[in-house]
Amino acid sequence: MEVIVTPDRGSAARIAAKIVASLLARNPSGVLGFATGSTPVPLYQELIRMHREEGLDFSRVTTFNLDEYVGLAPEHRCSYHSFMRENLFNHVNVAPQRIHIPDGLTDDIETFCQSYDQQIRDAGGIDLQILGIGNNGHIGFNEPSSSLASRTRIKTLSAQTLRDNARFFGSEENVPKHVITMGVGTILESRRCILMAFGESKAVAVAQMVEGPVSSMVPASALQLHSKVHVIIDEAAASQLTRLDYYKWVYENKPR
Ligand code: F6R
Repeated sequence: MEVIVTPDRGSAARIAAKIVASLLARNPSGVLGFATGSTPVPLYQELIRMHREEGLDFSRVTTFNLDEYVGLAPEHRCSYHSFMRENLFNHVNVAPQRIHIPDGLTDDIETFCQSYDQQIRDAGGIDLQILGIGNNGHIGFNEPSSSLASRTRIKTLSAQTLRDNARFFGSEENVPKHVITMGVGTILESRRCILMAFGESKAVAVAQMVEGPVSSMVPASALQLHSKVHVIIDEAAASQLTRLDYYKWVYENKPR
C-alpha cells in the first residue's frame, strides 16, 4: 500500500483526482468504481471542477458503484442513485447508459448480484475503484466477518454502521438494514484502488487496515493483498499508524 498523508481533504482530493485524470488520459474508456458517503465528496467536487475548467472527459467512461440500500427507489433522496446524481453524475458528461449502481428494488437479489459481477467482467473489469472505510473497517458494506472472497451480494448492516449512517436519514430507525454491496473479492479484482479516510474516527480502522493482520474482522485489511492501493488520508486519520514517519519519508522520496 502507498500511504499518502495530506494536510487536509482538499489536498487529498486533488491527489486522488490526478490519479483518475491520468488514468483517463491513458484510457478515455476506463472503468471507474465509485463510492458514496462523506469521504469521496471533495474528490467528486475536484473532478467536476476539472471537467468544467480543464475538459476532463467522462463521455466514454463506464462506472460501477459499490453499493445501494435494499428497498430504496433510485428517486429516494437517501438512495445512492440520488447521491451519485447530486454529487457527480449531474455535473459531468458520463453517459447514463454506462452508469451502474445496484438496484435496491430488485425482486431477485441473488440473480441481480450475479449479473452485476458479470456486468463488471463484461466491461473488462474495474480499472480504478474509489473506496472509503467504515469506522469498523468495512469497505463497500462488507461488515466485519465478511468473507474476504465474497462477491456482490446482500448484507445486513451492523449496529455501528446503522448509527454512523443515521445522519443521512434523520434517525437510526430510518436506515435500511440491508444493502447490496460488491464483495471484498469483487473489490480486490479492481486493477487499482484509492482508499480515502478523514478524521480521527477513522484512525483505528486505518491503522488496522494498513498495519494489522489480514482479517475478515477488518475487511479493509484485505487490501494488503492488492498490489496497487493508494491510501490517501489526513493527519487525524493517520494518527494511529505506528510507521507514519516512514510512510511520509517514502512519499517525499518517491522515485520519479
Ligand atoms: C459507501 C461505502 C462505505 C463508505 C464508508 C465510509 O459507498 O461503500 O464503505 O465508504 O461507510 O463512509 P463515510 O465516507 O460517510 O465516512
